[in-house]
Amino acid sequence: MPDNEQPTVDGQSRRSVFVAGAVTTAGMAVPRSAAAATGSPGAVSPAVEADVTLFVNGRKRPVRVEARVTLLDALRERLGLTGTKKGCDRGECGACTVLIEGERVTSCMTLAVMEDGRAITTVEGLARGEELHPVQAAFIRRDAFQCGFCTPGQIMSAVACVEEGHTRSDDEIREWMSGNLCRCGCYPNIVDAVRDAAKEAGR
Ligand code: FES
Ligand code: FES
Repeated sequence: MPDNEQPTVDGQSRRSVFVAGAVTTAGMAVPRSAAAATGSPGAVSPAVEADVTLFVNGRKRPVRVEARVTLLDALRERLGLTGTKKGCDRGECGACTVLIEGERVTSCMTLAVMEDGRAITTVEGLARGEELHPVQAAFIRRDAFQCGFCTPGQIMSAVACVEEGHTRSDDEIREWMSGNLCRCGCYPNIVDAVRDAAKEAGR
């Protein structure tokens, strides 16, 4: 034992205890795949990857994802479509709303592998070139946002709300847009924008 090391009560040095501990810990660090193969208790299966084809905004977008990846993360992190926002990441705020086969869905609550082959519309897919979608135009005209973080989700929900015909009164609009939260409190202007877009669509 080096002179500068203090003996522990059982005569081992502090360093030798650390070294012994590190060796023991390293020995326990069994790769997940090996642990799974041996079927040892508490073994974690390796992440399973899958090839998925999403049809996003009219384009075929093949992507390889782990089975646990949400549609939201696939859109943002793998396909670079960052218009769809991540707010709560647990289905409570509506910031991540997209349309799947025309129905609104919170994309943080569905897995990319579950949407294989399905048509997805994000906020990037609404405008036709320079021409904004009527709902987007109404949001701008009515000043229906401040920070804008909730806005893509609000707009996607509003597009569906108009399409569904849930716009017969302001109360009905409020009820059917209630899954989309706005921390800036733009609710009155959002209702105005949805009412305008509904009128324009002849609803
Ligand atoms: Fe999906 Fe909030 S981020 S509902
Ligand atoms: Fe800021 Fe809605 S505009 S959260």
